[in-house]
Amino acid sequence: MDSTNETLTLQKKLDAEIDSFFDSAPPLKDSANVWKRLTEFVLLNSSPPGEDRGRRIVCVTSGGTTVPLEQRCVRYIDNFSSGHRGAASTDCFVKAGYAVIFLYRSGTCQPYCSSLPDDALLECFEISNESKIQVSQPYSEAVKRAISDHQAAVAGGLLLKLPFTTIFEYLQLLKMISQSLKDLGPYAVFYLAAAVSDFYVPWNSMAVHKIQSASGPLDLQLNQVPKMLYVLRTEWAPLAFCISFKLETDSKILLEKADMALKKYKMHAVVANELLTRKEEVTVVMTDEKITVHRDKHQPGADVETPLIELLIDRHSAYILHQEF
Ligand code: PMT
Repeated sequence: MDSTNETLTLQKKLDAEIDSFFDSAPPLKDSANVWKRLTEFVLLNSSPPGEDRGRRIVCVTSGGTTVPLEQRCVRYIDNFSSGHRGAASTDCFVKAGYAVIFLYRSGTCQPYCSSLPDDALLECFEISNESKIQVSQPYSEAVKRAISDHQAAVAGGLLLKLPFTTIFEYLQLLKMISQSLKDLGPYAVFYLAAAVSDFYVPWNSMAVHKIQSASGPLDLQLNQVPKMLYVLRTEWAPLAFCISFKLETDSKILLEKADMALKKYKMHAVVANELLTRKEEVTVVMTDEKITVHRDKHQPGADVETPLIELLIDRHSAYILHQEF
């Protein structure tokens, strides 16, 4: 078989796997309302009549997807991600003037909360002598900033938050978002920081009720989740600027794997990070260059997302120019 035929056969196989994944997934709850919110958000950030271009819109994915083992789910397999990367990156994108669709795992880190403690409600608030709830002094500035920045982003129509839990919800929402952004061409960005399951139990072969431990050891057959990156890039959003992530625990293979992902899925950039140092440095792998950015250790509260997003926005601007001429 020559290489064109081989590519076509592989493409057909992938399309069939993707169709089978979506056909067997449980329908997304409230999908009509999600679609309405998405289209309103995109319209709000699109060019007003008489002006030639609207705002750039980025879909930031964040947190890990779960794989349920039962339809009435008690047990599930999870993917590691606190959601910090996606949340902090959202703050930076909004600050730079992008509108953000924040597709996040329920219960993970939220935008504008990275300077607050994990149990913010219990740590940041106290009961005054008059039995009123007030912000404790050490957190007063951080809480004020978080609330006002968040309110400004939402009221300004710059932040739309869509939660997911399972791999089924995540991929259905990602597809829907790509459809809603299709008219933006190169002004749309996908920043795929979510940790996405590689294996799943198809809905129609999943136990309905809680699996009983009295039945003895559990044998699980997991199907492979089709990698949607290639379809996203080539079919769902062919003109959008696409950034994916590569997480490894072994630094020796990290850059090589990121390079492979860049080529295989035709990404514009792959952000390579190692589990232990992911908050200190990341390397952005692109076709002609690899750039490592670091958190500024000398600046209190500095994060690695600030230089990362600056670099990516710069490359996105160059991409738009290149597409226009
Ligand atoms: O949330 P934090 O605690 O701050 O941590 C951030 C992070 C380490 C989770 C993040 O920076 C990161 O690296 N996210 C991607 C982790 C991951 O799942 O890597 P991967 O090598 O398995 O997947 C690579 C890419 O393929 C990802 O962009 C993912 O969205 C995509 N993917 C993965 C599996 C799959 N079946 N389909 C996909 O599209």
